[in-house]
Amino acid sequence: MGKMDGKVAFVTGAARGQGRAHAVAFAREGADVAVLDICAPVESVQYEMPTKHDLDETVRLIEAEGRRAVPIVADVRDWDAMQAAVAQTLEELGRIDVVIANAGILPATGEPSLKMKAWHEAVDILLTGVFHTLKATMTPMIEAGNGGSMIITSSTSGLFAIAFDVEMLNPGEMGYAAAKTGVVGLMRNFAKALGPHGIRVNTVHPMGVRTPMLSGDYFKEIMDRAPAGWCANALGYDLIEPEDVANTMVWLASDDSRAITGSTIACDGGQLVM
Ligand SMILES: NC(=O)c1ccc[n+]([C@@H]2O[C@H](COP(=O)([O-])OP(=O)(O)OC[C@H]3O[C@@H](n4cnc5c(N)ncnc54)[C@H](O)[C@@H]3O)[C@@H](O)[C@H]2O)c1
Repeated sequence: MGKMDGKVAFVTGAARGQGRAHAVAFAREGADVAVLDICAPVESVQYEMPTKHDLDETVRLIEAEGRRAVPIVADVRDWDAMQAAVAQTLEELGRIDVVIANAGILPATGEPSLKMKAWHEAVDILLTGVFHTLKATMTPMIEAGNGGSMIITSSTSGLFAIAFDVEMLNPGEMGYAAAKTGVVGLMRNFAKALGPHGIRVNTVHPMGVRTPMLSGDYFKEIMDRAPAGWCANALGYDLIEPEDVANTMVWLASDDSRAITGSTIACDGGQLVM
């Protein structure tokens, strides 16, 4: 018996990386999953973004676990598209119990990170996109009366300062830090208001995770410039794996965490205590 038998999860940014790992982990625990992704480039981002082919692979992996998948190509910045995505999920899968607001970009490197466009794209995707995701899923979850769990992927940079020099105060990096901190405010308000409806809301704050966002050559520029110990963590990991975060997500999505809401959950190897 799975921890999420009979449940439906709605996961944004699911074409690859952490979102894919979460979707597959939920399927393994018995959930059907709507998997949403932009599957297209974003101007301020230097590393390669996924394509529809990547989202199709996520679908294949969910189906290999014996569960249903609904792929949706949409941009979390687009409110109408997010409402349509929720309607499609309800039409095809019947309910929503778990929401993972995970879609994100890191426009922190190279020339694009220096333009104000990078600030706006970071805040639009990482903060407004999360608000759209929570707001669009909230009403049908309340109406269904089944309770549920909403989880926002923040970052350790939503809980501490990452800028080690003036160059890091660029629009892309600061848009990222501001948005990852801003979602904590959203989480606390949604947790308070949705608690009476049995809907729990939390943020997860991962340290560096081995996904295309971080593991390519572009981010290496920052690592090479950083002072020793910049990303140190108590457990001595270089990066953690998407599955490490997915295990945290399954716990927060399942009844095992029924008493946890309004919390910032660090998945950081102890980075925040260094
Ligand atoms: N990789 C890390 O080190 C790390 C650390 C802490 C937090 N995070 C956060 O984890 C989340 C997942 O990132 P990841 O590491 O899996 O990187 P990733 O680049 O592999 O995955 C991010 C996914 O989000 C999608 N996406 C981006 N903009 C979108 C939009 N406007 N609409 C819909 N989908 C969109 C991308 O297409 C991609 O599939 C992000 O919110 C990221 O900020 C990452």
